[in-house]
Amino acid sequence: MSATSQPASSNATPRAKKITAPYLRALKAKGEKIVMLTAYDAAFAGQCEAAGVDVVLVGDSLGMVVQGHSSTLPVTLDETVYHCKAVARGLNCALLLADLPFMTFRDADTALRSSARLLAEGGAAMVKVEGADYVLDVIHALERHEVPVCAHLGLTPQSVHKFGGYRVQGRDESAAERLVRDAHAVQDAGASMLVLECVPATLAKRITGELTIPTIGIGAGVDCDGQVLVIYDMLGISPGKRVRFSKDFLVGTGSVRGAIEAYAQAVRSGAFPTAEHSF
Ligand code: KIV
Repeated sequence: MSATSQPASSNATPRAKKITAPYLRALKAKGEKIVMLTAYDAAFAGQCEAAGVDVVLVGDSLGMVVQGHSSTLPVTLDETVYHCKAVARGLNCALLLADLPFMTFRDADTALRSSARLLAEGGAAMVKVEGADYVLDVIHALERHEVPVCAHLGLTPQSVHKFGGYRVQGRDESAAERLVRDAHAVQDAGASMLVLECVPATLAKRITGELTIPTIGIGAGVDCDGQVLVIYDMLGISPGKRVRFSKDFLVGTGSVRGAIEAYAQAVRSGAFPTAEHSF
């Protein structure tokens, strides 16, 4: 059996075609949810692929859950390329999305060089950048050079020192209006997708309704076009207290593959997240 074949008992839908940015936009148009998970090596990537995950993210969360740092800031571009290469070997159809680490997209030229490595060496098909403001020029430059971009707004972990901790964003009216403006701005700059992290569910719903690109929520309620979790959080093996927006899908499923399938099914049916996982 290959890493991507389906056992008879699997609930996952076997896929024959590569998942692409236009396909993800079509899913939004059809009202079908997008399933995203992080992975950092070929074995977990293979499990995601086999369970029918649409997008596999090599997130800079690897700094915290793999390397044991207290933030994502120490992650380097070399390390991200290394993990991308490993994940790419475990994938067949799922889209490989890679984070641009802290300061590797500080201007358009640096972002183009960094992204070239993630796509050409790492095998990624899309890169993710945190923030708006100067990042709008970066998104525009990448898009003009044929690099699909996923924007990331709300709790952007690379801004942890500016925020003073990992806090829910967009709670008051002016912060919420700013987030709505930023969401439109990243779309207008050419982003193909938008991750919304730790924002009130009602705000994420509004942004999702107003944008034409898919939104992917993490701690952003059930009304986003898709969901993402850090894989070690949803397997209950991340160190420390469980984060509110995650759920241990290993409980009651008994295997990594079963847990990922249960997560994918819960996202697609709208059963996850519930109010308990939202703000
Ligand atoms: O780095 C990461 O894993 C992420 C997700 C939490 C969205 O950015």
